[in-house]
Amino acid sequence: MIIAIDGPSGAGKSTLGKMLAKQLDLLYLDTGAMYRAVAVAAMRAGAAWEDTAKIAGIAAAAKIELRGKPDDLKIFLDGDDVSSEIRTLDVAQAASIVSTISEVRRIMVEHQREIGESAPNGCVLEGRDIGSVVFPNADIKFFLTAKPEARARRRFEEDMAKGRDSTYEQTFSEINQRDERDVSREDSPLTISEDAVVIDTSDLDLSEVFDQMIAKISETKRAAATTD
Ligand code: DC
Repeated sequence: MIIAIDGPSGAGKSTLGKMLAKQLDLLYLDTGAMYRAVAVAAMRAGAAWEDTAKIAGIAAAAKIELRGKPDDLKIFLDGDDVSSEIRTLDVAQAASIVSTISEVRRIMVEHQREIGESAPNGCVLEGRDIGSVVFPNADIKFFLTAKPEARARRRFEEDMAKGRDSTYEQTFSEINQRDERDVSREDSPLTISEDAVVIDTSDLDLSEVFDQMIAKISETKRAAATTD
């Protein structure tokens, strides 16, 4: 079973994706982490952001691996654990730039399909283009969204918990800047697939969203079983 979860930053995709993967015993793939790892590789190589050919070459050569269970997922770049490094604000901004490069996207999408298709029980993939590009035939597609203020508030609280020094206003403006880039890029912009189940998480608890998602998955499984 392939479950696609798309949506803007801070809508709850990662937390809910991990919860679903655990509950259903599926692999969890954080595709944003892969773009972040490419950004780290490009920064380490000192590539200029305009040098798209160089960055595409770096993406092609980079060995990006996700290891471990959803709750303790580690991201490796060429054998190096970059799990913490990819979560910095600089890398978040850089990832949003490298993810506009078509050749980078092509390489990542191919990698994501291989990982998803080879997962023995199936996979929960979380990102921006999973239902539209990576797995357009996913068994179920969710689009999680929330009001910008709610998303910025959540991100800000996560940052505070991690001891990061930022303000709510800063987080709000950064989130908006990244969202703008995600929806306006030419290749695979963030869009809502026609067949996606859209959930606005602004005023819902995690458990309420989780229950809605599980109910939808059960319904889809039942429908598939009756048509078999
Ligand atoms: O979800 P995230 O913040 O970790 O994603 C990092 C960046 O990568 C973000 O700017 C959006 C981009 N991204 C993408 O373009 N396509 C994906 N499937 C996942 C992330």
